[in-house]
Amino acid sequence: MKDISKTPAWVALTAHKRAIERVHLRDLFAGDPQRFAKFSLSLGNLFLDFSKNRLDGETLRLLRTLAVEADVAGATAKMFGGEAINNTENRAVLHVALRNRSDRPMLVDGKDVMPGVRAVLAHMGAFADAVRGGTWKGATGNLIRDVVNIGIGGSDLGPAMAVQALSPYQQKNLTFHFVSNVDGAHIADTLEKLDPATTLFVIVSKTFTTQETMANAGTARDWLVRALGADAVAKHFVAVSTNAAKVRDFGIASDNMFGFWDWVGGRYSLWSAVGLSLMLAIGPTQFGNFLAGAHEMDEHFRTAPPEQNLPLTLALIGIWYVNFFGWSHHAVLPYEQRLARFPAYLQQADMESNGKGVTRDGKPVSHATGPILFGEPGTNGQHAFYQLLHQGTQIVPADFIAAATSATETGRHHPLLLANFLAQSEALAFGRTLVEVVEAEPVAPALVPHKVFPGNRPSNSILLRTLDPHALGMLIALYEHKIFAQGVIWGINSFDQWGVELGKVLAGRILPTLEGGTAVAGNSSTSGLLDQIGRWRAKP
Ligand code: F6P
Repeated sequence: MKDISKTPAWVALTAHKRAIERVHLRDLFAGDPQRFAKFSLSLGNLFLDFSKNRLDGETLRLLRTLAVEADVAGATAKMFGGEAINNTENRAVLHVALRNRSDRPMLVDGKDVMPGVRAVLAHMGAFADAVRGGTWKGATGNLIRDVVNIGIGGSDLGPAMAVQALSPYQQKNLTFHFVSNVDGAHIADTLEKLDPATTLFVIVSKTFTTQETMANAGTARDWLVRALGADAVAKHFVAVSTNAAKVRDFGIASDNMFGFWDWVGGRYSLWSAVGLSLMLAIGPTQFGNFLAGAHEMDEHFRTAPPEQNLPLTLALIGIWYVNFFGWSHHAVLPYEQRLARFPAYLQQADMESNGKGVTRDGKPVSHATGPILFGEPGTNGQHAFYQLLHQGTQIVPADFIAAATSATETGRHHPLLLANFLAQSEALAFGRTLVEVVEAEPVAPALVPHKVFPGNRPSNSILLRTLDPHALGMLIALYEHKIFAQGVIWGINSFDQWGVELGKVLAGRILPTLEGGTAVAGNSSTSGLLDQIGRWRAKP
């Protein structure tokens, strides 16, 4: 396999970085009045301004050559063609089929998956309409009022993020809850508020073996059966899974199971039946708009030339900073309270995909891979960690995300929010020089260095017309393809997650000790902590 860091494009970028690192964003803007026009792109109702990055036309040209060296276009064709690009699990990666709104067949092993995709969407739609319209009733004849999504990772973060993001489109007589953590407090605190007669549980697990989800689902079932009896399970539990046998073993009838396929990765599954809670919230029509937004981005990513390609551009800018500047972090900063869970969602999408240390053929990588991603909604983050972004010694490239209009225009709030969105990226890019500090106001000499902002800190600004289902679909797909393109350039498999396995195995080994069984021989730290826990649990 080609080592991307040994290619001429990589070598050229290394040399180019040495030249451009001395240039300030102030100079780049001053030197080119057309900079914003040159370094911005749009697709429908999504606009990307990447002018506040430490790059010029030559940087982009070299980065695009890197993408050619890595054959991003070829890998994209393989993904859309249903090839088993998840090589360590021998699986196709075809979440794009789930939102394929065209008539084009999508093939896995020579078979068109689209009829199956449409059948599940129709099943979901009929169920969502029945619950929303009140024809689906609980075992005692009551309407469903509360929906509890039980899942973790990709079976939780996507639905939880999207239901919150699209709350203005939500059916008002339904309330949504998300339980993920194996900590019993999560399910207990949720159930405490609920009435079994009006509660629907959506158990979401690709494998239907995940410890946390099975523990929470079992506790929920016991709670319901205690109140309404075992026969009530059929009216209060549905499952989303690829594992029909395990769903049946749990006691959920196949009519109440919504399937998907092994070519849908957990963190790419929101578009499948894993999105059932979202469809219950916003209805089948808006769910269709959500899929259509992602499809628009898919078609763009697949067909747009590199110079106009939004996901590829974001991917290349990210590689520029991770690999050539050595910046290991990336902040995602939505100026949109309803996107509060978007950074957490992207953490899984990005870090579980590209947090890899070996190449697709198992050799240690010779360069850095995925960054540490974090974020909080603005303006809250401004009053928490932005100090470090502005004046700290680490440089953290950031994505600012906002919508020009809000579904909830409340007084001056949205202009205030947008003013902050614009101000922060400006402050990061241009900073405030010593001269500007002194000229701005009388300031004690000792304080001057504290008031200087170095600037030259890069960011992208992603602007939506408004946060609606279509735009959310576009936004998520934008990041999915960014992550994909980066994984291709780094030569890693973005679609497996072996790194989460060891902890699961060790937890299984440790659990018997905590439940009073024989102590496991382990290292002195684990044994010592187990002893301490044992002493405190014996005398709470
Ligand atoms: O954390 C590992 C993981 O496999 C994720 O990739 C996945 O989203 C999550 O666990 C949940 O898995 P499942 O949907 O099978 O319960």
